[in-house]
Amino acid sequence: MHVFVTGASGFIGQAVVKELIGAGHHVTGLARSADAAQSLTRLGAKVHAGSLHAPDTLRAGAAAADGVIHLAFIHGPGDIPLGRRLGLILGGSPRHIVNRFGAAITAADRRAIDALASALEASGRPLVTVFGTMGMEAGQTAKEEQEPDPRSPGWMRSQTEAAVKGWAARGVRATMVRLAPSVHGEGDHGLVPRLIATARKHKSSAYVGDGENRWSAIHRLDAARLLRLALEEGQPGARYHGVADEGVPFRQIAEVIGRRLNLPTVSMTPGQAARRFSWLAPFVAYDNPASSDLTRESLGWRPTHPGLLSDLGGEAYFRI
Ligand SMILES: NC(=O)c1ccc[n+]([C@@H]2O[C@H](COP(=O)([O-])OP(=O)(O)OC[C@H]3O[C@@H](n4cnc5c(N)ncnc54)[C@H](OP(=O)(O)O)[C@@H]3O)[C@@H](O)[C@H]2O)c1
Repeated sequence: MHVFVTGASGFIGQAVVKELIGAGHHVTGLARSADAAQSLTRLGAKVHAGSLHAPDTLRAGAAAADGVIHLAFIHGPGDIPLGRRLGLILGGSPRHIVNRFGAAITAADRRAIDALASALEASGRPLVTVFGTMGMEAGQTAKEEQEPDPRSPGWMRSQTEAAVKGWAARGVRATMVRLAPSVHGEGDHGLVPRLIATARKHKSSAYVGDGENRWSAIHRLDAARLLRLALEEGQPGARYHGVADEGVPFRQIAEVIGRRLNLPTVSMTPGQAARRFSWLAPFVAYDNPASSDLTRESLGWRPTHPGLLSDLGGEAYFRI
């Protein structure tokens, strides 16, 4: 299959490119810079120049492919064009500004999905999209068949799942892979490295309350294999869970970080955590166990790589 991958130069994307090529597929990756293009060429992929801010480039990439894996995502203000960024910053409290950025980023993802899917309409060609288990209800093990919860910290992004379901009804073999909040492994620059950096800065590693709230996790290479299987075998409108560790108590994550940095591990109130972790605080305190039983059964997928705590025990996360 000729697969168009957005976000192919990213942490998960590079693993997906290797996984696809290893399984005999041909890959074209979206690149918005010369550096990204070079990294894709090194991996053996072709390059399609374009951007999330130019939906026509996404449509063209998808139109030329037999299937699409969409991983590109705007993770911060730096990925938003300057003029638009200024408009989002002006006026309102810090909370309003964070919400405005969240809404702008989600809208860009929705536009990207619409552009990619429109090129695949009525063709039965697959589109794999990613979301997060953090969009699911707190305190219970999230299952694939459940809908996202408006009270969850990941709700804003999860609303786009409805659009993907709509495209599935229009003849796109569109699937959704909900990834655990920690996709870990060599090169991780997601939430766990932020926790480590925050612990270094404040000279202690923190959790909220008793720290019994749970995070799910998945190794990047297990996620890459799951995304390939979703592309090859996913059913229209299906939701899969990219989850290997079902629920690691957050206190244990904080303790490993504290131990590895030789710093104390401390409990915080929600107010203290809000000051320390800023926009990350609701995620730090969220109880978000998730199951992948249905995913394992329907795609024959089994995680085989180390779990989060074991990965944190290695050197990769603590090199300066
Ligand atoms: N990593 C995790 O722990 C985790 C957990 C849950 C969900 N996810 C989701 O999984 C997906 C992949 O995550 P990741 O960790 O691989 O992210 P990443 O390493 O930050 O990669 C993001 C990718 O998106 C591309 N991108 C960003 N803005 C773009 C734009 N304006 N136009 C075109 N491309 C753009 C980046 O290109 P450049 O190389 O040019 O920067 C890069 O290839 C994302 O949707 C993410 O939210 C990740």
